[in-house]
Parts: sequence; structure tokens; C-alpha cells
Amino acid sequence: MNILAEIRSRFASVLSVYTDQPAQYLEMIRPVEDSRHGDYQANFAMKLAKLCNQNPRDLALAVAAKIELSDICAPPDVAGPGFINLRLSDGWLGTEINRMAADDREGVAPVVSPKTYVVDFSGPNVAKPMHVGHLRSTVIGDAICRILRFLGHQVLGDNHIGDWGTQFGMIIYGYKHFLNQAAFEQDAVLELARLYRFVNQLCDYHDLRALQPKLDKGLAEKLEEIDAAAAAPGDEKQKQKLQKKLTGELEVIREQIADSRKKLSTVESNPQVEALARQHPEIAVKSRLETAKLHGGDPENLKLWNQFVPACLDAIQGVYDRLNIHFDLSLGESYYQPQLAAVVADLKEKGLARESEGAMCVFIPGTETPFIVQKTDGAFTYATTDLATIKYRRQPLHADAMLYVVDTRQSEHFKMLFETARLWGYGAVEFKHVNFGTILGEDGKPYKTRSGDTVGLESLLDEAVGEALKVIESEELANGEDRPKLAADVKQRVAEIIGLGGIKYADLKHNRESDYKYSLKKMLAKEGDTATYMQYAYARVCGIFRKCDVERDVVRQSPDRIVLSHSKERNLAVQLARFGEILESAMSEYRPNILTDYLFQTANAFSSFYDECSVRDAETPELRASRLRLVDLTARVLARGLELLGIETIEQM
Ligand code: ARG
Repeated sequence: MNILAEIRSRFASVLSVYTDQPAQYLEMIRPVEDSRHGDYQANFAMKLAKLCNQNPRDLALAVAAKIELSDICAPPDVAGPGFINLRLSDGWLGTEINRMAADDREGVAPVVSPKTYVVDFSGPNVAKPMHVGHLRSTVIGDAICRILRFLGHQVLGDNHIGDWGTQFGMIIYGYKHFLNQAAFEQDAVLELARLYRFVNQLCDYHDLRALQPKLDKGLAEKLEEIDAAAAAPGDEKQKQKLQKKLTGELEVIREQIADSRKKLSTVESNPQVEALARQHPEIAVKSRLETAKLHGGDPENLKLWNQFVPACLDAIQGVYDRLNIHFDLSLGESYYQPQLAAVVADLKEKGLARESEGAMCVFIPGTETPFIVQKTDGAFTYATTDLATIKYRRQPLHADAMLYVVDTRQSEHFKMLFETARLWGYGAVEFKHVNFGTILGEDGKPYKTRSGDTVGLESLLDEAVGEALKVIESEELANGEDRPKLAADVKQRVAEIIGLGGIKYADLKHNRESDYKYSLKKMLAKEGDTATYMQYAYARVCGIFRKCDVERDVVRQSPDRIVLSHSKERNLAVQLARFGEILESAMSEYRPNILTDYLFQTANAFSSFYDECSVRDAETPELRASRLRLVDLTARVLARGLELLGIETIEQM
């Protein structure tokens, strides 16, 4: 049950006397971390009192006297200037915890009015290997699908693969000019990735050479500006401030120049590569031409595309399998190509799109930049495809909500997309850009390998699993003789679960909008807010059952009841009872970190319970049976929570 929602709805009827906009005050009713004064607290009285011109404490007392919560809570207590403290009653809590234990959904009822969600996530651009940048969308999107589905919604996870973009022109160009046939036959995807990188490198090379004089000029100008600013009369403080700003800008230019020099010299220091660069001065233009030919239906390029895409999808599938990620649909950009002309025609007919400087654009009232749906050369855009996708998701898929789990850097695109879609007649749909920040290296810059390349996703996973294996082995050593050594294959499997769980959890636990630093060491720590800690807590419960020589199933089927006699038992029970509330609040803004926070607190509550309350040596057989049931429920909530984040648990670690 969603306790918070229930409490809020009870308050809503009382607050209607004071205001016709109670929502903002109801939001000020929250669970409290330190349960000494209660389990929930309402602190709206101070704010509401201002509105009604009353004394806050008197108002709090009046509300507390009127509120009908006696079935759930002990009589409310008003503290200080007007905090209303609520404590779940022992009777209600006892009933609720037993209801949860007897329910195979841990007390979480499916929503009354399920919606159809399309969750657009992962969406890598294929023919390039998956890299660290794809991790967040994949992991966050999967967690959201799992949670919504568990809550009873109809969910379609859709992998909107980038399989029609300009990268194909580059690969086709590369294939036609630089193919290593033997390598291609051995591992097509690897060779295509090499070709992509190589063509990219040559394109960059020519771009940078053209840019070099401009950078040099920019540097000279900046130096002059600095000199001029130093010589100019004026307030010393102001001047220092300006100097600081200019020196910062100078640094940026210097970095750009250094970066550019480095890239140029990589090509120039290799005579073979340099010769090829010279032989292909128009590589960028010609690659774009290959893309245009593909889009225009050129048989040769289409044939190559048809050969490349399945091989690439196969390779990506390997990563998804390993991460245990499934999609209901994988309709890439190419799927919508036949529909794009009709989309533009319809937008035109409805007066939404019009020509501007040769391109077809949608102008959104209040926004300056146009949303381009067809370029001057006739090509359709990323935006056109997204509009066609919305149409399809609405009909035939009947989506009520469309979530886009995509990097924050695409915010502007989605703002315009959603606005255009509303104007186009999709106002009833809930559109949401579930945006997220960047994964950073220890240096605070986007995570790269030492040589400056993007980090491949496969190698990232391998590294985490390798590290997890080391952790397990060092544990075994530390535990000496009395711990049975895991068989090698079991150990490998455990390492896989810990390593991948660690990566996923670390990603999910951050507020998705923030950037975070990737630290393998931190994410595999046994103590702290990590998957490993939660997985250990789970395994510990399984260990209790092994020690007591009882099957968890047997305990679950028994008619025994949980009795909450110790304060730590009560704390744990309150924590468990909040599970349903947490899942709903995690989905109100699509924030999996609300669930990770909860799991961390739950594992902590379990740990402090177990420090003080013995299960095996409980004072009476009834108490032992009760505690077995309580820890079984704890393990089930932990495992369910982790499962909803796409993280596995193991009985023995
Ligand atoms: N392929 C895109 C990229 O890598 C992400 C796709 C996101 N989904 C969408 N419907 N636009 O940037």
C-alpha cells in the first residue's frame, strides 16, 4: 500500500476548508528519516498559516484534531511551531506487515488505471561499437520499464536504433576504399568499426587542417586583447577580473590547438596514413554523398547497408544479453523512412510547417530556432523521424505516455519535438524527456581511455567483472579455511552478477540529471551505498536460513505471524511497509535513485535489526518463527527492488 498517498488523501479533505489549492501543502507531508518523533511529518502549517492569517501552531492543532487517521496512526502529535508528527500505529503496522508477507507482490497492488507507456531507451547508433555513453540510457531505461511493468502498466520498451544516419555514408565510403577483406571475413563488425574510425579520422584531419589558421589567428587576437586590457586605464579590481576571464579563454584556445596538433600529428607521423589522407581530400563531402545515395535508394549502397546492419545488431545483442536487457520493440530510424514524406505533407497541410530559406520548418510560438523537418537538399531529419515515431506510437500502439531516456544534451530537440507534437494533435499524450548527465573519469572530464578514445562498453563490463572476481577471491582468503571455496564456474557467475550489478547500481543511484565520476573501486565496495552491500544483505538472510536449517518457502507457507516486539523490528517493518509508496514516488518523476536510496536504507535497517535481534537464538520459538518471516520478507523486498533495477541477487557470496 502507498502509505504516504493514503495519509495525504486524508489531509486533503481537511485542508479543503483552508485552501482550494491543497497540492503544494500536501507535498509537505513526508516520511521522516529519524523516526524518534514519528514516521511521517506534515510541516505545511507554517506556510498555510500565513495564507489564512492564523497562528501556525493553532492551525496545526486544529488540523490534527480534525484529521481522521485513527485506523493507520496513533493520535497525531503537534511539536514546536506547528509540525504535525504521525506515528504508524502498532496495530496497523502489524496487520500490514503480515499482509505483505502473505502477498507474492510484497503488498504492492497493481495500479487501478493502467496506462500504456512506450519507453524509448538505449538507441545506439549502429555500425559503431557501443561505448560508455550508451550505458546510462540502457540501464535507466530498463529500470523504468521494469518498475512501471511491476506497477501494472502496459509497457513497450523500444530501442530506437540509429540505423540510418550519416555514419553509414562514412562506413560505405570506407568499405569502398579501405577495406581489409580478410579482417572483414573474420569479424565484420570489428572491421566496420575500424573503417568508421578511420574515415572519421581522415575527415577530422582535413577539418582540423582547415581550422588551424583560424585557431592561430584566434590565439594571436586573444594575446593582443590581454595586452590591451592590461594597458587600459581603470579600476584595478575590475581589471584583474577581466584578466582572469581572458586568461581562461586563452587557455581554452591553447587546449584546442594542442588537441588539434595532437590529432594532426597522429596522421602525419604515419606515412601510410598520411598518404591516404592526401589521396582523399574530399572524404567528408564524398561520405555525405554516399549517405545521400543510400537514402535515395541506390541499389549498391542499399545492398551494403543490408549486409552491415544485421551483423552490427548481432554484436550489440551480445551486450544486451549480458546485461539482461530486453526490448519489446526494436524499430530503428530506418523503419520510419517510408512515412517521412507524408509526415511533412501533413504538417504542411495543417499549416504547421512552412518553407524558410529553402527548408521546411515548424515555428513554435515563443521559440526562435525553427524545428527543421526537411533540409534544403530534400533530406528528412532526426526530427522528422521522431515525429513519425510519435504518430506510430500513438496509432497503432495506443501509447498514453512516451518517455525518452536520452542524454541531457538533446533537451532542446525534445522540447521542440514535444511542442510540435502537441500542435500536431498529440496533446493528450504525456511526453517526457527522461534526461541524464554524463559519466566522468576521475579527472572530472567525460570518461575516456588513457589514449583519449571513448571506452567500449564490452571492455567496461569485462573490467568490472574482473575486478569483482578479485574482490571475491580476496574475501575467500580473508575468510580463511572455514569458508567453502566456490567452484571456479560458480565464482565466475558470482563475479558477473556483482560486477554488472555494481555498474548498474552506481549509475542508477545518482540523481539522473547529475554527472558522476566512474569509480570501479567505489562501486564494488562491500560497505556503503552499493549493489554489493545490498547483495550481501540478501545473501546474509539466506545464510540465516541455512544456519537455522529451514527453507524460506516453508516459512512463507506457514501460518506463523510476524510480531513486532523490539524497536529495531518495528523500524525494519516501517521501512518495508513503505515499499509500494517508494515505487510510485520513484515513477512520479522517473527517478530510479529513489528506489536505490530506499534499498540502502532497508539494508541498513536490516543490519541494525540483526545487530540486536538474534533469529536463531530468539527467546521463544514463536519469536524465532516471527523473525524468520520478517527477514524473509526483508530479503524478498531487497531482491524485488534489485530485480526492478535489473540487478540479480545470489544466495551465497
Ligand atoms: N540514436 C540517438 C543518439 O545516439 C538516440 C535516440 C533517442 N531516441 C529518439 N527517439 N530520438 O543520439
